[in-house]
Amino acid sequence: MKERNSTYNIRHATLGYQAEIERLKVQAMMGWEKEFRHLQWYGLQNGMSVLEIGSGPGFITEQLVNNLPQSEITALDIDSTLLDEAKARLDRIPSSNLRFVQSSVYDTGLPDDSFDFAIARLLFLHLHHPAEAAREIYRVLKPGGKLVIIDLDDGIFGAISPNMNLLPSVINKLADHQASKGGNRYIGRSLPRLLAKSGYIDLDMDAVIQHSDLHGMEGFKRQFDLNRFKVFYKNGIINEEEFEQIQQASENINHSPEAYAMMTFVMACGKKPEHF
Ligand SMILES: C[S@@+](CC[C@H](N)C(=O)[O-])C[C@H]1O[C@@H](n2cnc3c(N)ncnc32)[C@H](O)[C@@H]1O
Repeated sequence: MKERNSTYNIRHATLGYQAEIERLKVQAMMGWEKEFRHLQWYGLQNGMSVLEIGSGPGFITEQLVNNLPQSEITALDIDSTLLDEAKARLDRIPSSNLRFVQSSVYDTGLPDDSFDFAIARLLFLHLHHPAEAAREIYRVLKPGGKLVIIDLDDGIFGAISPNMNLLPSVINKLADHQASKGGNRYIGRSLPRLLAKSGYIDLDMDAVIQHSDLHGMEGFKRQFDLNRFKVFYKNGIINEEEFEQIQQASENINHSPEAYAMMTFVMACGKKPEHF
């Protein structure tokens, strides 16, 4: 299955290409320190062979390369334009440390049993066939190798202050919309079963909190960029009252010193058994 079979294509990003790249950048940088802490806790070490799947424009790849200088990092994505972005930014890195693979997570073309550690960040929520993807990653992991999925679950999206009472309803509607396209914005909760069904053992799971008082408001400004929501309003997916509340929330997040926000990411880890 070489096809994309997912709901993420940057060409359809509601923000437009460049603003979407910027959104991915601040979103990656905001959580990185904590995510890396957890990755190390799950066993990621310098010198390991690491596969990053759905690496996109390479902001996480860059952090991996900087933090794991003795590792061989493989950045895999289906999108050649995003891979080119990453290649251009990371062209100083020798090919012995970093290589790029254009392929689908469903059929990577990579050899069996070849990676110590695999990371998929904000990819699984977009996949039409997450179990197939988890099995393919299992195939390319060495026995004893680990997969960490970093993703979201809109049931525990987070919070903003001042409160927006229609936020849960907007979140539900956008999640339903994504589900109608084959994605799953509630994927966080199902990750342990997904990993178990795909053969992984020694499952673990944590939540990582990003808070504007700790990490700055920039990432949240991008999340609440009104341009992300206009198309949903225009297409009747959210109603006028909901759109007006988002407008107010966006205004607060951008301009009110009283405003703050909090967002939760889920990290789930599973191991390919040593003997199977
Ligand atoms: C939301 S972006 C996340 C990028 C990056 N992991 C991050 O955290 O900033 C999702 C990425 O998954 C890639 N993607 C979507 N479907 C894919 C597939 N079937 N196989 C591999 N990558 C895919 C997209 O091209 C995009 O780069």
